[in-house]
Amino acid sequence: MKKLAFSLTALLAFGSIAALAAEAPKSVKIDLSNPGPYFTGDGSDAINANCTACHSAEMVLAQPALSRAAWQAEVGKMMKVYKASVDEQDIPAIVEYLSKVRGNGS
Ligand code: HEC
Repeated sequence: MKKLAFSLTALLAFGSIAALAAEAPKSVKIDLSNPGPYFTGDGSDAINANCTACHSAEMVLAQPALSRAAWQAEVGKMMKVYKASVDEQDIPAIVEYLSKVRGNGS
């Protein structure tokens, strides 16, 4: 009988821990993938200044996740092929931003 009482207490204790865990605040998800015409969040100044004249941020971020090197090449393509006037000094910050929000980790 004593053993049963113990298991019941253990069961109740476990139940309340599970209930507490279920009530823990949910992590907040910030979706940077679909911001509309402008890029949002930390480090977005350079890319907003150089990359939003011809198309929206939404269009750029609709691309598949790319490597840092591929984003660097993409910026180069915009400059060469479409004659985008990009401030050379801003290129590292643009590539950094794209790798952060739409990078594939390499
Ligand atoms: C002078 C205009 C212009 C500027 C400025 C510009 N782009 Fe583009 N971009 C284009 C054009 C035109 C396309 C092709 C659109 C299409 O195919 O419908 C394009 C397409 C893209 C694409 C889609 C993939 C591709 O290669 O077609 C990405 C990603 C992109 N641009 C990123 C950027 C980034 C990053 C910058 C800033 C460094 C930038 N663009 C600045 C004109 C520009």
